[in-house]
Amino acid sequence: MTTATQIAGLVGAGVDRVDGPAKVTGEARYPADFGFEELAYAVLVQSTIAAGRIRRIDTAAAEAAPGVLAVITHRNAPRLARAPGGLGVGPPPPLQHDRIVHHGQHIAMVVALTLEQATAAARLIQIGYEETEPLLDIDDPRAKQVENAAGRDVSRGDVEAGLAAAEVVVAATYTTPTQTNNPLGLFATTAYWDGDLLTVHDSTQGTAFARASLAATFGIGESGVRVLAPFVGGAFGAGLRTWPHVVLAAVAARMVDRPVKLVLTRAQMFTSVGYRPATVQHVRLGATRAGELVAIDHEGIEPTALEDDYAESLTRATAVLYDCPNLAGRTRQRKLNVACPTWMRGPGEAPGVFALECALDELAYELGIDPVELRLRNYADVHPSSGRPWSTKALRACYEQGADRFGWARRSPQPRSMRDGRYLVGYGMASAYYGYVQVPCQARVTLGLDGVAVVRSAATDIGPGTYTVMTQVAADLLGLPLERVRLELGDSAMPRAPLQGGSGLTAALGSAVHAACTELVRSFTELAGSPPAADTYPGMLARHQLTELSADGASARRTDLDAEPGIFAAKFAEVRVDPDLAEVRVTRFVAAVDGGRILNEKTAASQIIGGTAGGIGMALLEQTLSDPGTGRIANATFGDYLVAVNADVPDIDVIFTGEPDPINPVGVKGIGEVAIVGVAPAIANAVFHATGRRLRALPITAEQLL
Ligand code: MOS
Repeated sequence: MTTATQIAGLVGAGVDRVDGPAKVTGEARYPADFGFEELAYAVLVQSTIAAGRIRRIDTAAAEAAPGVLAVITHRNAPRLARAPGGLGVGPPPPLQHDRIVHHGQHIAMVVALTLEQATAAARLIQIGYEETEPLLDIDDPRAKQVENAAGRDVSRGDVEAGLAAAEVVVAATYTTPTQTNNPLGLFATTAYWDGDLLTVHDSTQGTAFARASLAATFGIGESGVRVLAPFVGGAFGAGLRTWPHVVLAAVAARMVDRPVKLVLTRAQMFTSVGYRPATVQHVRLGATRAGELVAIDHEGIEPTALEDDYAESLTRATAVLYDCPNLAGRTRQRKLNVACPTWMRGPGEAPGVFALECALDELAYELGIDPVELRLRNYADVHPSSGRPWSTKALRACYEQGADRFGWARRSPQPRSMRDGRYLVGYGMASAYYGYVQVPCQARVTLGLDGVAVVRSAATDIGPGTYTVMTQVAADLLGLPLERVRLELGDSAMPRAPLQGGSGLTAALGSAVHAACTELVRSFTELAGSPPAADTYPGMLARHQLTELSADGASARRTDLDAEPGIFAAKFAEVRVDPDLAEVRVTRFVAAVDGGRILNEKTAASQIIGGTAGGIGMALLEQTLSDPGTGRIANATFGDYLVAVNADVPDIDVIFTGEPDPINPVGVKGIGEVAIVGVAPAIANAVFHATGRRLRALPITAEQLL
């Protein structure tokens, strides 16, 4: 059997992105880049109230406008089915009734010969509403609470007894705002029907899942739908569900009998493709004077949509980060008249670890123990709930190497004790964990007379470097140079693959590519009677009158290993605070990550840098603001929704610790999302150290600090 350790040659090196040239030359086509003869354009009209019903909708002027092919509302849209629940499924299908459940709900669509004509005609639609009072406040007693969605509550021991017996207790409430995924690429769908066959180019993180969703929605077999997404302009989780606008593009294409392109506007990106819900989190930590945690209680409350059941776990990391005998973690959702939330950049952990790791910092000050030392005293050598060993865990090395690289030893513990000229300087740190998931995946490799191996999978690459690292894995196993391997991804007609989400695709697809390539080498060995060398593949095919050989590979999470998977990191931030203007700048950042085997130092470090930039935005800038009376989002532009830009992001020092993880044959962990986790608390803790001000509400702005 081929083992992980046999991957050596091309894996690990900082190889440039194999799809880089196609992207910078414009050759790579994104979902909005596909043109067709007779292409028509769809423009959406959205609700300007959050609750009620449509009393009247006057489409006559729009229908008579130049170039208009169709105006589609709930009155003439086809009846559609709601796809059965599960990963990748979106909220209920659009335009099925006259009820309004959130501001920004799609209520009409204009299809015209040009985008300008569709946009102009959409403005002519007159809508009369019957408004009811919307539920918009998470503390509104009328809001229905969802208890323990999908059994995500976690507990061990007796948390109340633990807290009662603790020598020291810190208790605090932390809040995080609504944040919007905001990938640079506006989400786009181009759809066309060929008889009963639907083809869709879409900004999705999983073509197989989008296919299943669309097939169920339209009541056709999966073989009647093909979804293509070879390139996606980022998604950060927004592409994990099949949203109503995707369905609408297909509805429009059917109704006007032409290909239809629908590109969301930036403002529509705030209401149409999910967002990270705001959180209110109550944390209580109980410890001995010596800094031994005896109890952790963590409760999170988030809004969710009336028409949907999106829920995430804010306490998943809390349950596993520390060796603490008594623990309770629960997340509750409250149903409001809001658009559907969704997974966004480290969902659950990114906000959850903010609360936990700020509380740990508060405990460290309460006890007079160094924050790194406090974490080391509570290090979980085994999984603290199951008691099973970790498949691998190098978090201790993250603390030690990260602290060393950062110069943590130079920190004087007293708040406001470090200065650089007139600026206050603060050092802060946090631990990070992300519960990455590996789900079943397939791939196929075909090697032909030209000596090129083509690897195919339905998986998408939304930007982290999947094309590149899979090329490295396949080339290494087949003994081929990189340029003799070609990856083809993002087509639901290819072997089934999971969503690129939950930081699990490298493990899943890497293992499937590993299986396929191992099988192909075995087939060639059988053919030749001895193991093949790179140059001999075409010769062997020719000798046996073959034009190509293929092999299929499938992967699933290993179940024969008595171990828990987990990815860990330690984050260290330095901030400089202007004492007069209350401006916070992150001046240095070290991320030490136990990523298992790193397939490509360059793309992996790039992932961590990108996630850290997202974390800086989370800490200091990002918040989606809505009008409390109407639910209208007030800052749905890149001018008003602030994300971290180059000037906000210092050089980020990335350290990889750890070793190949036996949990899968390629030895990887999922590094995509642990990248953002722990960044915001490290910064918030640094702000406390710099200023002596404990700010428990993100983002930390000058207004708060003044
Ligand atoms: Mo990630 S939020 O699972 O794309």
